[in-house]
Amino acid sequence: MSLQGQRILLGISGGIAAYKSAELARLLSKAGAEVQVVMTPGAQAFITPLTFQALTGRPARTELLDEDAEQGMGHIELARWATLVLLAPATASLLARMRAGMADDLLTTVLLASQAPVAIAPAMNQAMWAHAATQANVQGLTELYDPQWIGPDSGDQACGDFGAGRMSEPAAIVQALQERFAEKKSAWAGRRVVVTAGPTREAIDPVRYLSNHSSGRMGFALAEAAARQGAQVVLISGPVQLATPPGVERIDVESAQDMWQAAQTAAPKADLFIGAAAVADYRVENPSDQKQKKQQGKNEWQLTLVQNPDIIDGVSRLKDRPKQVVGFAAETQDVERYAWDKLARKNLDWIVANDVSRTDIGFNSDDNEVTVFGRQNERYDIGRQPKSVLADALLDVFARGFPED
Ligand SMILES: Cc1cc2nc3c(=O)[nH]c(=O)nc-3n(C[C@H](O)[C@H](O)[C@H](O)COP(=O)(O)O)c2cc1C
Repeated sequence: MSLQGQRILLGISGGIAAYKSAELARLLSKAGAEVQVVMTPGAQAFITPLTFQALTGRPARTELLDEDAEQGMGHIELARWATLVLLAPATASLLARMRAGMADDLLTTVLLASQAPVAIAPAMNQAMWAHAATQANVQGLTELYDPQWIGPDSGDQACGDFGAGRMSEPAAIVQALQERFAEKKSAWAGRRVVVTAGPTREAIDPVRYLSNHSSGRMGFALAEAAARQGAQVVLISGPVQLATPPGVERIDVESAQDMWQAAQTAAPKADLFIGAAAVADYRVENPSDQKQKKQQGKNEWQLTLVQNPDIIDGVSRLKDRPKQVVGFAAETQDVERYAWDKLARKNLDWIVANDVSRTDIGFNSDDNEVTVFGRQNERYDIGRQPKSVLADALLDVFARGFPED
């Protein structure tokens, strides 16, 4: 399952080898990847979108100017969703259009909008492959995209010719991708990462509590990305409605005090501690053992709150402090000033700041837009993207904090 957690956008263009892409989609899914197929109009003359829907569990996307599709995962979101774009088969025409920067169908448009790495498995008649125009396009694409070229293979061709131009076999394509990701894993391979996520619940009585709107999605996305990149991940989660990411050890907690207990056990000597949970600053001083009844004539009910342990501050001052400690600053105003202040005050290595006064990103949204501030005065602005994609970008930033490697 070495493609576990990868989101592969499989672009299929109009070559006879498109029939092999059905097997390719099946093998990619089997290796653990999520697969989203995008087909050119030409590809649909060779194989139907329905085949891929059945194999990948996601409807294949075929249209660019499609009102319904744009309301769901639009072409830009599709571009951001992918951790890798794989073109198989890539026709001579697709290579030429890519090289020219065309955006005349969904696949070429997504390619221009995506920052994901690209892998290309060309497939065409041997004379078409050998043609100077195609070879110039291959050269140009290498400069533009630095893609992983997979094949083409040599051998008998569907047209009766013999030579270089056959698409590599699906199993060989999957293996080439697996090798690529195995190499990339190294930055996080074997590292110990601890993530806190979600809200905490501070009991008032057995049926009532104080909490907040955190969904836990950012922390879960970070845990998932770190595990996918080879880290050993412990995820300490408040009450959320999210599935445990593959390969992650999850510890469920309720209150801030529980979370602090779990963090003290998991954090010592970790390589990275990410405090993405929205921990309640205060808890009810004396929660009641019994449900509090409404009292006739009593219009007010006063609760006394006392301060909770500051988890991120506590972790950053542990004797066996993690190598790097990352905090989040969800603010509604003066985001940058608070972020720098919190970074210094809590002895953090990085702080990820976002503006939660905006309703289109942040809490309870799939997307986020953040700025990361670092101990050495670094600053990285990471534009709006799905939290799952943002998580990879954040890990790339944190990986810079391990200079000894
Ligand atoms: C039967 C048949 C097989 C074809 N096979 C290939 C092929 O393997 N590779 C290729 O580059 N073009 C092939 N073509 C030509 C492409 O279909 C044509 O260039 C088309 O415009 C490609 O569009 P697309 O790249 O947008 O999918 C084939 C055409 C036909 C009629």
